[in-house]
Amino acid sequence: MAKSKIKDEIDELKGKISHHNYLYHVLDKPEITDYEYDQLFQRLQDIEKEYPELLAEDSPTRRVGGEPLDNFVKTQHREPMLSLQNTYSPDEILEFHERVQNYLKGQGEAYSYFCEPKFDGLAVELVYEKGLLKAAITRGDGVTGEDILSNIKTIPSIPLSIQSREIKIPEIFEVRGEVVIFKKDFLKLNETIEQQGKVQFANPRNAAAGSLRQLDPKIAATRPLKFLAYSPGVIKGAKIKSQEEFFEMIRHFKIPNAFDLTLSLKIKNPIYKTAKSIDEAVTYYSDLEKMRASLPFEIDGAVIKVNEFSVQDILGKVARSPRWATAGKFKPQQAETQIEKIEVQVGRTGVFTPVAIMTPVKVGGVTITNATLHNQDEIDRKDVRVGDFVIIHRAGDVIPEVVEVVLSKRSKSSKPYRISYDCPSCGEIGEKIEGEVAIRCVNPMCPSVLIESLKHFVSRKAMNIDKLGERIIERLVEENLVKSFSDIYKIEKEDLLKLERFGEKSVDNLVHSIEQSKNVHLSKFIYSLGIRFVGEQTAKAVAKKFKNIEGFLNCDLESLVDIDDVGPKVAESIVKSLDDKSFKNEIKKLESVLNILDYPEAHAGSGSKPNEIFEALTFVITGTLPVQRSEAQDYIEARGGKVSSTVSKKTFRVVAGENAGSKLDKATELGIEVLTWEELLKLK
Ligand code: IVH
Repeated sequence: MAKSKIKDEIDELKGKISHHNYLYHVLDKPEITDYEYDQLFQRLQDIEKEYPELLAEDSPTRRVGGEPLDNFVKTQHREPMLSLQNTYSPDEILEFHERVQNYLKGQGEAYSYFCEPKFDGLAVELVYEKGLLKAAITRGDGVTGEDILSNIKTIPSIPLSIQSREIKIPEIFEVRGEVVIFKKDFLKLNETIEQQGKVQFANPRNAAAGSLRQLDPKIAATRPLKFLAYSPGVIKGAKIKSQEEFFEMIRHFKIPNAFDLTLSLKIKNPIYKTAKSIDEAVTYYSDLEKMRASLPFEIDGAVIKVNEFSVQDILGKVARSPRWATAGKFKPQQAETQIEKIEVQVGRTGVFTPVAIMTPVKVGGVTITNATLHNQDEIDRKDVRVGDFVIIHRAGDVIPEVVEVVLSKRSKSSKPYRISYDCPSCGEIGEKIEGEVAIRCVNPMCPSVLIESLKHFVSRKAMNIDKLGERIIERLVEENLVKSFSDIYKIEKEDLLKLERFGEKSVDNLVHSIEQSKNVHLSKFIYSLGIRFVGEQTAKAVAKKFKNIEGFLNCDLESLVDIDDVGPKVAESIVKSLDDKSFKNEIKKLESVLNILDYPEAHAGSGSKPNEIFEALTFVITGTLPVQRSEAQDYIEARGGKVSSTVSKKTFRVVAGENAGSKLDKATELGIEVLTWEELLKLK
């Protein structure tokens, strides 16, 4: 093929990929499946491999794979990054306005206030030169920061080049903004980190900071970082007259911002506002505080800026803060309460976790009674004791945490707290594993370990026995009906009916739910075993490598560390578990009652998630299909899809059989494609 043709194809692929990135990551309105996206990406990678000379600086394939750096390069900002003066109440915002008025006195300038959320993350400046993203510099001391471009490039929503058909690309276009991690992504990230046996992040801000500081961009790439732009740096070759116009331009260039984000999230109240008076700005500040808990990202205030740049220029700055802006900070989400007792909980892996049980107190509208104290080291560091008055806050708006002890209120008779080595669940003596802070119960029959392991085993991402709730598991263990995973499959209807408060209908549902779980994908089965450090991703990688249960059971250290996502610690943990006779025996028992599906190879090698061809796509099944509905559901779920009972805009496809009714009508109304069972089977 002629080089020019190839170049055209590359350009077309690049354009398509960045368009779909934008639809997915900024607007949250994907138009193609992950699988289709992966195919475009793979095609581009293949061409670039064959013609390395055509690999462009802004190719999306450059996002993922940079080599680790030795250090970040210190880089000066063209214009210093200032900080904001804080105000803490409507009155102080009015005082800010008075200062602005006084300064402008006699100059007769008309101006408005542009109001924005104050994001709680890390400030970074993106530098586009001739349209290409050339640097991404942290704030540092305001004058000099560090160039963390290799990490920033891994954020899929940030364009690697800016393009436009309508306007000339500015010679220099600097955009400042905040790198954040959304609340729900933060919780997921911490879960994964815990599964890897690493120390969790205290809040989304620390998680974002820690991720950006990684010298290995491959690690940064696994972190759910987002960028939200808030102001221009140096701009050459474009005229922008106000903060409002700045937002118009970045939206045009598809640079992520909370404007587009809130549109995609359908948040009702405007997250930005051009206020014609300071009263309107104060109303915005109070309204935003009310919205705070419901926003997907953390904010700690509102930023009120003079909108017009000409007026900003007149106002200038004092020391390191502009006179034209203020940060209206919200009250901290903190409260004081007393620790009534410290309870030790035993987790799935036997780890003892001390939890402070406190006099209930409201923080940011949510009543808090418990806060984890993590481990003995944390207790010692904060010197937390029973009876202490403590300041607590919700880290990341979500996890309650003890910030500090109010020492002035401490009782003279209080004593430092030490976690007992006696397991609170089974009474056996716990062990401290070398090199770890945690104490662990090593009794395999410990009821707490068993209950927690069973909860994990039945959870949605594992065996997905949704009718087997926590209370029922506790009852079954109490009644000695279940002592291992495989016992779940021995439960008889009669056993359940004997338990008080179990009606015929709920027993039928439970039995059905257990029955349905028997067809299980290898990766989910491996995940459900609850082997230390084996999270969902690792389980998938292991399944992909060994293909079937036999392969998995015969794996060895060497073949495990061969897997990209598996380090020596994880590999050792797997080998150690499989060397344990009773554990292996348990797997054999499960194997005899389950139908463990081999890793499907249909799409192997065609993208980053070859197995999950329906990943995150929602299907609705309606009418009578040629197979059992549960079979259809299993089919979709085994490929990463979800099955919902209601048709909405989010539905990807409706699978309809005979006598389909209102759901089919709804699909037609919303323009959602309807498939037969046979067509579903052909969907790739
Ligand atoms: S404007 C002079 N706008 O707050 C203008 N900053 O104290 C300074 N921040 O370093 C920045 N959200 O990290 C601005 N909407 C927003 C912001 C914001 C968060 C952070 C930023 C900056 C610090 C200033």
